[in-house]
Amino acid sequence: MTTHLKKAGANWVDGDRFFNREAELKELRERVHNGTHTLLTAQRRMGKTSLVRELLRQLEDEGRYATVFVDLEAANDPADAIAEIAIRAKPVQAVWRRIQSFFANHLQSFGGRIDEVALSELKVKLRAGIDAGNWQHQGDQVFAALALSERPVVLAIDELPILVNRLLKGADYRVTPERTAATDALLAWLRKNAQEHRGEVVLILSGSVGLEPVLRQAGLSAHANIYQSLELHPWSHDTSSRCLAALARTYDLDLSEDVRMEICRLLRCCVPHHVQQFFDFLHQHLRRTGRTTASAEDVELVYERELLSVRGQIDLEHYEVRLRMVLGDDAYGTALELLTEAAVHKGRLTDKAIRRYRAALESSGGDAASIEDVLYSLEHDGYLEQQTDGYRFVSRLLQDWWLARHGRFFTPIQDRPI
Ligand SMILES: Nc1ncnc2c1ncn2[C@@H]1O[C@H](COP(=O)(O)OP(=O)(O)O)[C@@H](O)[C@H]1O
Ligand SMILES: [Mg+2]
Repeated sequence: MTTHLKKAGANWVDGDRFFNREAELKELRERVHNGTHTLLTAQRRMGKTSLVRELLRQLEDEGRYATVFVDLEAANDPADAIAEIAIRAKPVQAVWRRIQSFFANHLQSFGGRIDEVALSELKVKLRAGIDAGNWQHQGDQVFAALALSERPVVLAIDELPILVNRLLKGADYRVTPERTAATDALLAWLRKNAQEHRGEVVLILSGSVGLEPVLRQAGLSAHANIYQSLELHPWSHDTSSRCLAALARTYDLDLSEDVRMEICRLLRCCVPHHVQQFFDFLHQHLRRTGRTTASAEDVELVYERELLSVRGQIDLEHYEVRLRMVLGDDAYGTALELLTEAAVHKGRLTDKAIRRYRAALESSGGDAASIEDVLYSLEHDGYLEQQTDGYRFVSRLLQDWWLARHGRFFTPIQDRPI
């Protein structure tokens, strides 16, 4: 598998593009055997979707489990989510037959050609049978159908936290009692089914926004306690170096140990996606200059000109969008300040600077306690890590990018009058 590691491309990876993560695969596999539901959390681009996809691929090959993968990134409400789960269960025949008969009224227009109908069309029909009044009941039926499979079902639900966040805050990022109630209902429904069908359906929830910070804001944290969390960490420098070596072998490049270590040093925190991006940019750079051997200078050049470039940034802009979505406008403003403060000080945000921010916020009538919430989110989402005298940017790439993007007209807090 790792002797001919192929480059990743734009999406999640499995099979001959998947590297490492043996320990996590083993852990998840054990949980599946034990019927333990998992909440897989990690910073974006860490490889959550890939890990789950690779596990499902292996489990499918072995034949002991049926697997269903659902992505809720585009779902707006529980009814959407349930229609999506139902439709993704189609490859599991016994389950699909049951879903089909349950939704027979809505599917009858397809008649005998139902197997040729596109998933998107089927979904529209199923979705039409689910509404704000009956989604719990319809959802229970879908779970009951899953539980009917002769093989236990591993149900992977990706990006659930995005739906939860959307339900909780709407388009204006504001938590209201109605929205809290709607979120509560969805999570209670999922929890009930997860418990009722334990052993028959195993859940793996994952997403690029942490579920805990979102639930914490709404006082709904208890809903997450039936899921055992699994945190996916960045690759160590050693693992990243081996990944780079495996890629180099596949594409006939010569990357010395020093060169590979230089890449890791520049990234500091080796998010697998950044390692892959680095390799890809370096590969293109060498190809343009007609060479196959990279030097440390090549690596630095590629870091400055490619990874920190506009092209490299498209990906990093994702970070800002997600941050805003999780925090809402006010807290997002605070987060921007704190991250920029850190970026202009070589990645470090001292306790002293935080105290000054708190004082400044208090004197302007703001909510000083919100600083703690913001720091909690920034730490939980992998932007900052605690150090003895404050915080530091985890990723050097993100730090440099943040500096380039927000640093120019920024006045550090100690230079401002309070
Ligand atoms: N195990 C892995 N092996 C090789 N590349 C990986 C691996 N995990 C992640 N990547 C890289 O990271 C990118 C993002 O992976 P993805 O699974 O979509 O992350 P997430 O779901 O956490 O956002 C992939 O396109 C690939 O470049
Ligand atoms: Mg993903």
